Amino acid sequence: MIYILDTADTKKIARCCEFYPIDGVTTNPTIISKEHEDFGKLIKAIRNIIGDERMLHIQITASTCADIIKEAQAVQEYVGGNLYIKIPISAEGLKATSALKKMGMKVTETAIFTQQQALIAAKAGADFVAPYVNRLDNIVSDGVNVVLETVELLKAHNLDTKVLAASFRTVEQVHKIALAGTHAVTLNPALLDALIYHPLTETAVQGFSNDWKSIYGDKKILDMLK
Ligand code: G3P
Repeated sequence: MIYILDTADTKKIARCCEFYPIDGVTTNPTIISKEHEDFGKLIKAIRNIIGDERMLHIQITASTCADIIKEAQAVQEYVGGNLYIKIPISAEGLKATSALKKMGMKVTETAIFTQQQALIAAKAGADFVAPYVNRLDNIVSDGVNVVLETVELLKAHNLDTKVLAASFRTVEQVHKIALAGTHAVTLNPALLDALIYHPLTETAVQGFSNDWKSIYGDKKILDMLK
């Protein structure tokens, strides 16, 4: 499973990269605008924190193929490293996806809500397709099923494109799309913390500590191996 952070908050990115096995960061114009910072400085700061090897997915704001390509090239030059250009699916976006792939750039097709959007983006050459699970669940659609069938379609048609499931509110959603075979998931830091939390784990750890102290007091393992 590829774990990606869906935030542009540099403090949260630094903390998550310190503690969790994080493979990269995704952003979009909403996520970027929440930080109220200069776009260029912000994406450079994120790149510095995560390093050149981790993936950085940056979404363009242009809507025509020619302008998408210009923005993609500018972002690539500016931020460098392991970069994916995020393009919301559209006819112009698909044209730009094919063109960027021919130019040797990597693309994540985003704002995916149906299996057929994902399939055609894959055919155009997208490296990742990003279905929005929670937004589908919110309209009483089935986000997990879109992920499941997209994974199946990509396999059935021998396409190398990976599914980067996005838009989550609950650990249960993340669990279900993991079972559905998604290749990657992008999560906000709070949900990442929630993934590893369980009250019984806390109880278990407290029990270990109490039992140890009842026999050995404040002595630590290192004190006892001298
Ligand atoms: O990566 C896409 C994601 O940011 C959308 O998530 O929570 O706004 O539905 P959300």
